[in-house]
Amino acid sequence: MYKHLVMMLVVGLVWVRTGSMAPVEAQTGTAATGEWTAAEWAKARRLSPLPPPPRDATNALADHDKAAELGHLLFFDPRLSPHGVSCATCHRPECGMTDGLPVGHTLAPVHRNTMTIVNSAYYRWLTWDGARDSLWHQAAGPIESPKEMGSSRLYVVRAVMQHYEQALKQIVELPSGWASMWRQLPPAGQPGEAAFDRLPPDRQAAVNRVFATILKCIAAYERKIVSAAAPFDRYVAGDSTALSLASRRGFQHFLRLACDTCHNTPLFSDDEFHNLG
Ligand code: HEC
Ligand code: HEC
Repeated sequence: MYKHLVMMLVVGLVWVRTGSMAPVEAQTGTAATGEWTAAEWAKARRLSPLPPPPRDATNALADHDKAAELGHLLFFDPRLSPHGVSCATCHRPECGMTDGLPVGHTLAPVHRNTMTIVNSAYYRWLTWDGARDSLWHQAAGPIESPKEMGSSRLYVVRAVMQHYEQALKQIVELPSGWASMWRQLPPAGQPGEAAFDRLPPDRQAAVNRVFATILKCIAAYERKIVSAAAPFDRYVAGDSTALSLASRRGFQHFLRLACDTCHNTPLFSDDEFHNLG
């Protein structure tokens, strides 16, 4: 008898839970897409909510708010490039942080589609081929690429000292002697170029350190660009009006076609490599 009561209680709870978690047609009054099955709804629950980004042990400034504020300004600042190209030239907010082009193209075509930076803080491997494994280090690539920003670490540290010295000083302690050193640095250059390679090792080290700090500020900003509380998340959380009928139908196809074999986490990605043939 006691056992039965417990069973009824459990069944009751399960019923209440599924009742409130599968709100689609019941609450919107349309049966056009059919009800979610329990299995479908369980799959939806695997795709939301998005947790906070994982800790980044390679970046001491990852969750430093002032670093993120400075990173935000730097991301949009064309003065970091002698050609006036910023990160945001290709990662444009109005295009979901990409550029709307088949392949990225500023100073020359880069032969790859510009990825979004939304949720980039979650990925173990960055860029299409996974060539970068930390967010802050990734940012050095476009800065020093002659096809993208056509800039260099010497150019960038000087530009940041000229325009953001106070902000930078509030975030980290700058290398000793830096206050007088940076003004004497050549205007541009990176490893492999004479202007940088001819500098004494202590100057090279100081430049690298300040450059890394700048990249870490940019990464701290990128960590804030996440897709949490997107319409899909609100829908899964119980707001049945968050997705249109077309979107709900699309999601049903997505599940029935087993797209979530690979697009199977709140990032809609398994963060793995697949040979799609
Ligand atoms: C010329 C256009 C262009 C510029 C400028 C540019 N990017 Fe990108 N970005 C791309 C392209 C193209 C990719 C894909 C690269 C690849 O696969 O090698 C990419 C990839 C990325 C990724 C990887 C995303 C992921 O999920 O793997 C991040 C992060 C990123 N860019 C940040 C930046 C930052 C920060 C800057 C400025 C310092 C910047 N980008 C400047 C075009 C650009
Ligand atoms: C076997 C694993 C797998 C399955 C199943 C799969 N995808 Fe993908 N999907 C990928 C991979 C890998 C990429 C990246 C493709 C590339 O690099 O060219 C991708 C890319 C995409 C993109 C482009 C994302 C972007 O940011 O540019 C979309 C959209 C997409 N898939 C939708 C779907 C849909 C819809 C289905 C179901 C009909 C599906 N995928 C099934 C692995 C898969």
